[in-house]
Amino acid sequence: MTDVVISGTGLYTPSESISNEELVEAFNAYVNRFNETHQAEIEAGEVEPMAESSAPFIEKASGIRSRFVMNKSGILDISRMCPSLPERSNDEDSIQCEMAVKAAREALDRAGRTAADVDAIICAASNMQRAYPAMAVEIQNALGAGGFAYDMNVACSSATFGLQAAVDAVRGGSAKVVLMVNPEICSGHLNFADRDSHFIFGDVCTAVLVEKKATAVSVHQFEILGTKLQTQYSNNIRNNFGFLNRADESGVGAEDKLFVQNGRKVFKEVCPMVADQISAHIEELDVPVAGVKRLWLHQANINMNNLVARKVLGRDPEPEEAPIILDEYANTSSAGSIIAFHKYQDDMKAGEQGVICSFGAGYSIGSAVLRKL
Ligand code: COA
Repeated sequence: MTDVVISGTGLYTPSESISNEELVEAFNAYVNRFNETHQAEIEAGEVEPMAESSAPFIEKASGIRSRFVMNKSGILDISRMCPSLPERSNDEDSIQCEMAVKAAREALDRAGRTAADVDAIICAASNMQRAYPAMAVEIQNALGAGGFAYDMNVACSSATFGLQAAVDAVRGGSAKVVLMVNPEICSGHLNFADRDSHFIFGDVCTAVLVEKKATAVSVHQFEILGTKLQTQYSNNIRNNFGFLNRADESGVGAEDKLFVQNGRKVFKEVCPMVADQISAHIEELDVPVAGVKRLWLHQANINMNNLVARKVLGRDPEPEEAPIILDEYANTSSAGSIIAFHKYQDDMKAGEQGVICSFGAGYSIGSAVLRKL
């Protein structure tokens, strides 16, 4: 079987960020305005008053302290409560394309490659900003790459599923060098007026270059020992937005066209599945638990990550064994585990092993076991 490596990774971080305090201040101003506007109905028992959010709750429940966003002012504007990202003309690069090109350039640099070496691009993300043409084809054009390109979406597991697709393409011979990008504009599908979830997501883009070990020239290579994917249907994380079911003009039915989840159930159901998958995956590859130097986990909730790491390792993880980036980035959907991998890989020595693992809506779980070369 052809040996395949990750030869480079890249990260694009938006220039704007929102702290919990700033987010909560805007949310609470929205709540107070809502309650004042609906005071009569609230007093008559016809409308439920909205409750305020709290920055200490957010940090305690999730570990999140801030998030990067593509547009801050629109999110904090209480008459809007969503990013202001004006539509661009068809002649301009789209926003996701712009993000992906920036992350891709870093991945190419680290891999010692140029766009001309790339012959396949997979754009894997939770949300594409349009139906077609595929974002990946626009990114291919903007970079000047050859070959073919396509989009795919498996929600928070898009990147690990994309990684397996890239490995399969290189092994099967349909491509030599695959660029997999994850432009996640999660703020676009977040309901900033929902107290339970307004703090969860941030925006970012990651990029991963995958190619044959035999011909890779990178000094940052990780051999991909194996990839493993799993899906199991669940309604506990859902977004019903789609071209067949737009909300009517009154806005009725709009809420479920954004991210909704039953967070407690997700937590309880997904953590054991994830720990079991990682344990089974390393066992299949004859990698002992003691041989796992690092877990680059999906970044949704610090308590979830600690629980998964504890179940896999059989003890509490040291901070460097399961690095956390969600404190600064929040949940960036499929990009989270790749950000952790990108930021926490350069200290790894040849022969050391680690696992990238994502989990999310579907449910979907993806893992990749890596060895530093
Ligand atoms: N500010 C203050 N209080 C809040 C709040 C907020 N923003 N949001 C909820 N609360 C309150 C609730 O009303 C509830 O109060 P009660 O106990 O009086 O009923 C209490 O805090 C606990 O709420 P709950 O929603 O049960 O919180 P939680 O501890 O389960 O944490 C999540 C919420 C979402 C952070 C957590 O469930 C989680 O991370 N789940 C997994 C998420 C995930 O991975 N999703 C995948 C997405 S891709």
